[in-house]
Amino acid sequence: MKIIIEPPRLILRQFTEADAALIYELNTSPGILQYVQEASLENIEQARTVLVNIILPQYKDKLGRWAIHLKSNNEFIGWCGLKRLPETSDIDLGYRFKPAHWGLGYATEAAKHTLAYGLNQLNLKEIFGKAHIHNIASQNVLKKIGMQYFGEIAEDDTQVMIYVGTKKICTTNSV
Ligand SMILES: CC(C)(COP(=O)(O)OP(=O)(O)OC[C@H]1O[C@@H](n2cnc3c(N)ncnc32)[C@H](O)[C@@H]1OP(=O)(O)O)[C@@H](O)C(=O)NCCC(=O)NCCS
Repeated sequence: MKIIIEPPRLILRQFTEADAALIYELNTSPGILQYVQEASLENIEQARTVLVNIILPQYKDKLGRWAIHLKSNNEFIGWCGLKRLPETSDIDLGYRFKPAHWGLGYATEAAKHTLAYGLNQLNLKEIFGKAHIHNIASQNVLKKIGMQYFGEIAEDDTQVMIYVGTKKICTTNSV
């Protein structure tokens, strides 16, 4: 198991091909794709394809979406991580958690340590976070970890808020 970061309550590790069932369960949770432009998975085989074709190849640059487990009981609760967007080469900070674990600060904790890892360990100059205009929880996460409002774009007919984090901004803003 390749562990990337260990925030106080969480372990963030690389996914492996054996994790298709975890991805399937997460992505078919009620409400999980409400603000995400993504088709729902129909079976575990489709989840395996996502893992092999999208998630695992991101690991070659030390980036990627990482599986998150609770330290207390090892339960898988979601993912968080850094991804190079193919269209712009920008680094995107993203996260997705099982609804049973929303509202407990796990997203903020994982995102905060992921941002710090990207800026301080990987020496990335800037990291962007995007959230649907109505996804207040996600915007709150980005603001709480010290990222700054950058602008808005229309993406697939929806308004998306963009936040940015740099060493300078995050040292000043972080709570
Ligand atoms: C977005 C998501 C990760 C947030 O998870 P979470 O568990 O609510 O996050 P946290 O517990 O760290 O809370 C973040 C902040 O948002 C607030 N918040 C949570 N849900 C909220 C809501 N529906 N409306 C307003 N604020 C909300 C929390 O209270 C907290 O702020 P506080 O500490 O000042 O109270 C989670 O809802 C999720 O996985 N959604 C599905 C996938 C997704 O949309 N990913 C993001 C794509 S951009």
